Amino acid sequence: MDGRPLILVSNRGPVGFIDDGAGGLEVTRSGGGLATALTGLTDLVPAIWISAAIEAGDFRVAAGPGGAFPLPGAGMATTGRFVVIEPEVYERYYNVVANPMLWFIQHYLWDLSTVPDIRAEELGAWDDGYLVANELFADAVVESLATNPDAVVMLHDYHLYTAPGSIRARVPDAFLHFFVHIPWPQPDYWRVLPPHIREAVLEGLLANDIVAFHTHRYARNFLLTCEDLLGAEVDDDAMAVSYRGRTTAVRHHPISIDAHRFAASAADDAVRAEEALFLRRRRRHLVVRVDRTDLSKNILRGFTAFDTFLDRHPEFREDITFFALLQPSRMDVPEYVEYVERITALVSHINTKHGNTDWMPIDLRFESNLPLAIAAYKHFDVMMVNAIFDGMNLVAKESMLVNERDGVLILSENVGAFEEIGAFSLAVNPFDIEAQADALHQALTMPHAERRARADATRDVIRENDVAKWLQAQMDDIGDMRGRAVIAPDGSA
Ligand code: G6P
Repeated sequence: MDGRPLILVSNRGPVGFIDDGAGGLEVTRSGGGLATALTGLTDLVPAIWISAAIEAGDFRVAAGPGGAFPLPGAGMATTGRFVVIEPEVYERYYNVVANPMLWFIQHYLWDLSTVPDIRAEELGAWDDGYLVANELFADAVVESLATNPDAVVMLHDYHLYTAPGSIRARVPDAFLHFFVHIPWPQPDYWRVLPPHIREAVLEGLLANDIVAFHTHRYARNFLLTCEDLLGAEVDDDAMAVSYRGRTTAVRHHPISIDAHRFAASAADDAVRAEEALFLRRRRRHLVVRVDRTDLSKNILRGFTAFDTFLDRHPEFREDITFFALLQPSRMDVPEYVEYVERITALVSHINTKHGNTDWMPIDLRFESNLPLAIAAYKHFDVMMVNAIFDGMNLVAKESMLVNERDGVLILSENVGAFEEIGAFSLAVNPFDIEAQADALHQALTMPHAERRARADATRDVIRENDVAKWLQAQMDDIGDMRGRAVIAPDGSA
């Protein structure tokens, strides 16, 4: 990209500002792989990062001079810029359309016999929420392009599907790159949405020069969707879609973690402090899961499989703990609130059924605590990642990288990470509770040499497919499309 600046756009930015109670502002970092991975890009090129004002302090920062601010903790010359969206518009855009509507479609979460009902509220949320918010993001990008006409625009995720069309209409020569971080389902599932909505999603995406996904499966589904629902011309070999005189390249590159940095963080004082407490309670066998409380994560079936496992293998009683660290997420969406209630009730049922005064089979925590998560990662025998569908699942990579016991990964065949490390895990169908119960037993009784061989092979892939490789692959795609020199991993052109 020969030093051209980047304009990064994502709904949630890398930082938020909260009132510190004394009239000042305190910076909070957004967790999550996306923000962390993209921050890596800002080490390579000057960037402007456009995101929605979410926290109260963000609105104060946005109202400041020029609305722009130096982005704490990001790389060279990185400027943040907030898009201010009216709360009622944000509510419709984020809590009605993006989550759950689009999120549920892309993870196949709707139980179509009963939901969703698309009524005036949902249609209105599309017109007066999603489209309006996307237009505001587009305005911010167009303004930033006016002062940085050479910049490459990189938009991220399902919140922003219609913004590229609006940017393209106003800046026809802009270079637009879009990364979809969640699964792309098969074409017919998009038919849940009325034609004008699903077509706007696809037309928005096809206003980009490049649309990228984590896996080949999602990229292929996207090509099929463009063909089936839009009648676009698709070239499967070249992985390209032509529509209304434009061609969009479709690519797939698996996101990852900064393996070196993450491994180093396992020795942090905060992790060691959690670890000391954690190990004191450790029984002989430890199963771990770490997830947001998202319906796509399949938390209920994971616990039900553990219940079945305990029924079948009473010899493990009192010798095993299932530690579940669940980060509450999207609690403004009713489905998520109900999900947390169902998790709590199921765990209480299983603990009452199998446990006793000395032993609680499932240790359930609802909190966001990265040091504790890493402490648990280091010491599991079995890691459960059984998501229904999941774009990538970085927990699988993080946990296997730092685990010190050659623990076994139980991995859903429907997560993006499966394309890379599925062969070394115990693969499960996420709906098959029997298979998950069997996998628990197989993992817990696996000879150590086999555990080690699987764990070594997994770690090799994670180190090899580092986040730097993901970033570089995108830079190369952009360089290829523009026919120019590409940036090298060390930042030189
Ligand atoms: C998960 C997904 C990302 C998505 C993010 C949004 O982390 O993997 O693709 O962008 O959720 O989360 P938020 O908390 O901002 O709704």
